[in-house]
Amino acid sequence: MFNISTNGIVRTVLISSFVIALLVGAGGAYFILHQRAVQRTAAEAGRLLSAATAVRSYTDQHIAPLLRNDDKFRAETVPAFAAQTVYRTVQGNYPGYIYREPALKPTNPNDLPTPFEVELLNKFRANPDLKELAGVRDEGKGSVYYLARPIKAQESCLICHDTPQRAPSAMVAKYGPYNGFGWQLNEVVALQSLTVPAAEEIRETGEIAMLLAGGLLLVFLATYFALTLSIESLVVRPLRSLARAAEAASMGNDAGVALPASGAQEIRSIAAAIERLRASLTKSLKRLADNASADKS
Ligand code: HEC
Repeated sequence: MFNISTNGIVRTVLISSFVIALLVGAGGAYFILHQRAVQRTAAEAGRLLSAATAVRSYTDQHIAPLLRNDDKFRAETVPAFAAQTVYRTVQGNYPGYIYREPALKPTNPNDLPTPFEVELLNKFRANPDLKELAGVRDEGKGSVYYLARPIKAQESCLICHDTPQRAPSAMVAKYGPYNGFGWQLNEVVALQSLTVPAAEEIRETGEIAMLLAGGLLLVFLATYFALTLSIESLVVRPLRSLARAAEAASMGNDAGVALPASGAQEIRSIAAAIERLRASLTKSLKRLADNASADKS
């Protein structure tokens, strides 16, 4: 006879299936939700960066030709100035959304690249066919999603970014003759980079996964108690008294042994069958005993 009780087996099976369900369910949900949160953020960053590109080309193609004939230098004709000014307003409404145009030797010192931006710039410069670099990274104050695209120098840019002699003198007077020059046509000279906060999305994903795990735990507890209680009252207890009754009957000691009247239908049928068996056994034994005493007399 095995030493493990029915309830023991049920408990082991239930607990192990729960642990598997929890790992697969909550873990899988976290993985999928995390992927989707990153995809959503990526799509948003892509749209916002395209808007910045649109501001750049609008300035270059529509504003600059109108104003560039003037002797005066106007920052409003500079694509980088236009895009960054527009995005400062956007950033005012959506803190954490940061648009930058870092260059290795920038015209404006505000556009000096961080070490991470230098890394991205070098990747784009090493591989001119690369269209985009993106990912999630931890920036001290929480996870951010970054999206970077290369800026290549075009003919129209070289008016100001070729040599200080060729650039408008008012511009050179303002920014100095040392930086933002010497760019080559089609060379990757800078990045457009957009940083979007991702910490909130990632935290929400974790919370949803935790909620799911909590829900699974509740379902498990309810299932566990319902199953063990019903197995106890429908199977284990009736079987126990059935075993006792069958054992007593087999020893011919049937007085006062009650067969289970409750329990699963199948167990009640067995009880009824044992009851019939016991009755006929008693009858046969009695007939045998009567015959024996008739023979004697
Ligand atoms: C009229 C002159 C002018 C033209 C034309 C011009 N730029 Fe600039 N560019 C500037 C100035 C001035 C700045 C610094 C703006 C600021 O103060 O933010 C600048 C800044 C930039 C920056 C930011 C990094 C830095 O150097 O500070 C990038 C990138 C850039 N320009 C790329 C381009 C590209 C690409 C084109 C052509 C599509 C272009 N520029 C055309 C004058 C010009």
